[in-house]
Amino acid sequence: MRPIRRLLSMLGRRSAPPSAAATTPQRWRVSPSVDADELAAAFTAAYEGLAPDGVWRAPGRVNLMGEHTDYNEGLVLPLALPWGVSAALARTDDGVVEARSVQRPGETVRFHPHELAVTPDGRGSVGGWGAYVAGVFWALREAGHLAGPSAGARLLLDSDLPVGAALSSSAALECATLLAVVDAFGLADLAGDPVAMARLARRAENDFVGAPTGIMDQSASLRCSAGHAFFLDCRSEGGREIPLALEEHDLRLLVIDTRVQHALAASGSGYAARRAECERAARLLGVAALRDVEDLPGALRSLRDPVLRGRVQHVVTEIHRVNATVGLLRSGHLPEVGRVLTASHLSMRDQFEISCPELDTAVEAACAAGARGARMTGGGFGGSAIALVPRDRLADVRARVAKAFVEKGWREPEFRVAVAAQGAHRVR
Ligand code: GLA
Repeated sequence: MRPIRRLLSMLGRRSAPPSAAATTPQRWRVSPSVDADELAAAFTAAYEGLAPDGVWRAPGRVNLMGEHTDYNEGLVLPLALPWGVSAALARTDDGVVEARSVQRPGETVRFHPHELAVTPDGRGSVGGWGAYVAGVFWALREAGHLAGPSAGARLLLDSDLPVGAALSSSAALECATLLAVVDAFGLADLAGDPVAMARLARRAENDFVGAPTGIMDQSASLRCSAGHAFFLDCRSEGGREIPLALEEHDLRLLVIDTRVQHALAASGSGYAARRAECERAARLLGVAALRDVEDLPGALRSLRDPVLRGRVQHVVTEIHRVNATVGLLRSGHLPEVGRVLTASHLSMRDQFEISCPELDTAVEAACAAGARGARMTGGGFGGSAIALVPRDRLADVRARVAKAFVEKGWREPEFRVAVAAQGAHRVR
């Protein structure tokens, strides 16, 4: 049963019979987007007749190139996915926020925005999935919005993005919530300013949720446009749309979710450790950020620690790979991007050490079956890989990757063909 129907039936409403898409055992739905009218109806059922002010949607992302470069003030090249988080929201003036999720029937997150706080050890006063929602309200108040004790809201969230698959489900949740609040409360300073909104959503993630991420995911969710990758300079925050002509070249972008869960927030996580290593290397090299390393051979000679040398080599060459990818895309050489993808994967596997056997197997099997190239995407230590695949090789690539997983005794991965979708927007 589709989660939204389960929620409606728990609430005692009759719902239409599930469609074929509803019975799929996959974590991803077949339908490309969550239906806004259905979500609005479920909202009204969940909140005793209250109608939402609207429905907003923010996508997840894959990153075509530039991994772990964002917090090194470098370059990234993500694209928005057709899957994301939808938020139905009604503004209230009772000073209470209640949030429910179609994926978590029976759970209600409840807080008073003016009481939200961050503890001295850097954790927000609301945990679990509610932290992403509360973090947005906290960050808004920290920035001087929603002043006074009466601002409140009711939210119902729905998602067709898997959690922990490195496709930015957290950023999608933050950005859907943020856009809904900005619109429903008429926050004129933020509306139409996706750069400021991305900073604010990142603040929620870094300072309230406690995940020390960069700015890429929130920027991708809010700033990407359909049919394009988004070339972002994470220092200046300047961005540019780069057309992604997959159809023209008869290529497909295959997302392979290894179903190995990754997590960014845990203290002592590999992500936090990599970030700390990069900052240490920058200090030793006397630069503000690794983006500023111009003489890579010289920098590598001057670092004694082989671990730090690997980290620096990855970040600096990865930034060059973003530029190379943009050059290939702009000059009409999309198929050649495949080799850059694979080079990036090897750098993440061997120099930055953020891959895992499942991601390596997905990349190797995809390339062996005819993909032009493949790489892990996102923070690493699990999650998803992407492969650039000629259309007529798609079935072979899926079969070969699935077979390789089964042979190793792993659960089969999930496959999805991605297109570059629109960034966050109001849908109803
Ligand atoms: C996660 C973080 C991003 C970025 C990537 C790695 O997705 O949220 O900020 O650092 O990992 O490129």
